[in-house]
Amino acid sequence: MILAVFSQVIRAFWRRFSQRLPPQLADVALVAMTAQDGHADQVMDAVVTCTVRTARPEDLPAILQIYAAERDPNDGSPRAVSDLEQQTWTRMMRSDDLTVYLAEINDQVVGTATLMTMPNLTYNCAPTAFVEAVVVAIDHRRTGIATAIMRRLLSDARSAGCNKIQLLSHKRHATDGAHRLYTSLGFEPEAEGFRLYLQQVPAAVRAAQATQH
Ligand SMILES: CC(C)(COP(=O)(O)OP(=O)(O)OC[C@H]1O[C@@H](n2cnc3c(N)ncnc32)[C@H](O)[C@@H]1OP(=O)(O)O)[C@@H](O)C(=O)NCCC(=O)NCCS
Repeated sequence: MILAVFSQVIRAFWRRFSQRLPPQLADVALVAMTAQDGHADQVMDAVVTCTVRTARPEDLPAILQIYAAERDPNDGSPRAVSDLEQQTWTRMMRSDDLTVYLAEINDQVVGTATLMTMPNLTYNCAPTAFVEAVVVAIDHRRTGIATAIMRRLLSDARSAGCNKIQLLSHKRHATDGAHRLYTSLGFEPEAEGFRLYLQQVPAAVRAAQATQH
């Protein structure tokens, strides 16, 4: 219990302190984790480091695994990369305007997010940035991973001269923490988002629509 409180205090301190660090140093986030060995009274606390970096071509399987586990938490097994996924990834890796970020703990990928900077003629030709696919592995949530990735991404968008960084987050995320994550980073819910699915409506969106009607 005392250790758990201690780890929370360290985490809160690091969050405040790391905001003042240059981006290169802030890429390394301190993440307070609680590892439990199955006995309620034997909780072992450790402070571990999480590194944020841009993805490399060989990271595709690890990223797909993070996405798969988000769709189905029981889907932990690695699976083959399809031709379409490989072609899409190759295109993504070649694009100068698109960056995929990864968070790693002990060389294991635990989170990801994607940034797109769109060349733009308005706002004095400052590019506009878009964020997509922010996902953290279930076992590593609420430890500051998404915050660490987003801080790096925001810093890179600033360095790229972007005037505005936008993201859409479905209304169902108003209660699961995602909206709090973004507002804690300075995003304002000042715009109304519109979407039109041209192929498939995702299952999670269909489920959210069903509960609204
Ligand atoms: C949303 C998500 C990316 C957050 O990742 P994370 O690494 O757990 O987020 P962080 O630990 O950096 O949390 C930062 C802050 O966001 C808020 N937050 C994040 N998850 C929350 C939750 N489940 N409940 C309430 N607040 C939450 C809190 O304010 C938190 O700060 P705190 O822990 O000091 O209270 C993660 O839950 C996830 O992958 N969800 C599934 C995919 C998804 O919904 N992505 C977003 C789509 S728009």
